[in-house]
Amino acid sequence: MQMKSVILRESGLPKPYASSRPLSVETVDLAPPGNLEVLVKIKAAGVCHSDLSAINGDRPRPLPVALGHEASGIVEEIGPGVDTVKVGDHVVMSFLPICGHCDYCAGGRASLCEPGYRANAAGTLLNGSKHIRLRGYDINHHSGVSAFSEYAVVSAHSVVKITKDVDVTMAALFGCAVMTGVGAVVNTCGVKPGQSVAVIGLGGVGLSAVLGAVASGASEIVAIDLMPEKLELAKALGATRTFLATTPDVIGEVKEATRGGVDYAIEMAGSSKAFETAYGITRRGGTTATAGLANVNTKFEISPLPLVGEERVIKGSYMGSCVPSRDVPRYIDLFLKGRLPVERLLSSTGPLEEINEAFDRLDRGEVIRHLLVP
Ligand SMILES: NC(=O)c1ccc[n+]([C@@H]2O[C@H](COP(=O)([O-])OP(=O)(O)OC[C@H]3O[C@@H](n4cnc5c(N)ncnc54)[C@H](O)[C@@H]3O)[C@@H](O)[C@H]2O)c1
Ligand SMILES: [Zn+2]
Ligand SMILES: [Zn+2]
Repeated sequence: MQMKSVILRESGLPKPYASSRPLSVETVDLAPPGNLEVLVKIKAAGVCHSDLSAINGDRPRPLPVALGHEASGIVEEIGPGVDTVKVGDHVVMSFLPICGHCDYCAGGRASLCEPGYRANAAGTLLNGSKHIRLRGYDINHHSGVSAFSEYAVVSAHSVVKITKDVDVTMAALFGCAVMTGVGAVVNTCGVKPGQSVAVIGLGGVGLSAVLGAVASGASEIVAIDLMPEKLELAKALGATRTFLATTPDVIGEVKEATRGGVDYAIEMAGSSKAFETAYGITRRGGTTATAGLANVNTKFEISPLPLVGEERVIKGSYMGSCVPSRDVPRYIDLFLKGRLPVERLLSSTGPLEEINEAFDRLDRGEVIRHLLVP
């Protein structure tokens, strides 16, 4: 079939993207779903910093690529062998396909799925196939999803069936921001009631972490960003203290306010400066986690001595250490009960055609989450 899809041909073009236009809406051919694959009509796709990192070159992807990885939709057709979803089901996409039987999946660490990781790096679906062609040339898939499109053919292992009680458009946010942010607090860090948490970087991912910290019963939730508007929103969502990242000696101020630092400091900005802040405000015996995806050449410098003497822990957090089929329904359930007000993160919606402008707005920090509605 033919459909509209957003294609990135070249990364690193100058800003603003409204002028350099790295993304174009093209009419492409989409091959039907094969074995263990499904055709999904996309209802919404979120504009996330990880797409921006492919556009600005911080995290190069195989090009040309059909971008978009945070999405929801309705199953339109299923290929042979699919028994986990049926036509008409509402689904949220997982930006890592979960094979279900590699060492990591079997060990409960689906966010490290090895075949899923390899397929994403190669720009294919889980089984190695590519389904999108533009004027006879193969287009790479982004994270096995490619959701800035009218439709997507994805592996059945890339979708999670969700309840029809939740608005299917809003549900897109659960595919990346919520899984990554809430999961980092709940799964990667395992925050317990009464513990203290700091979130550094308050975009869709970081603010989801703030919501996760509130839902977990954290007593102290410190929110840090470069932009005062983001601090205001974090406070409204339940942060107990906010700090501008540009404050001279922000580390000293947070440590003083939290009597020596927080139990868990989670970096969600994708910058070494933010990681330094996170590490600096982690208390003795505490954990610094990072979910931000920094530029591929970014390095952190850490002195091992306090790591030892203070028994510190440093952890990476990918996809919130989630098992998507377990955690997406859990987080949607919390949302439906009013305990995870994810709707507060939705800034705006718009058509595919405004995608370059949408990335300019994300880059300038003017939106938390903007959803493209094809
Ligand atoms: N680990 C994962 O699985 C995963 C999944 C999705 C996104 N990400 C990454 O998470 C990060 C956040 O994504 P997002 O979509 O929320 O991004 P975003 O651009 O919406 O938000 C990032 C925020 O960080 C703030 N910031 C930048 N530098 C800072 C600093 N030095 N100190 C404090 N705050 C600072 C910005 O002002 C902004 O508010 C990105 O790096 C993204 O690639 C990771
Ligand atoms: Zn696996
Ligand atoms: Zn994302």
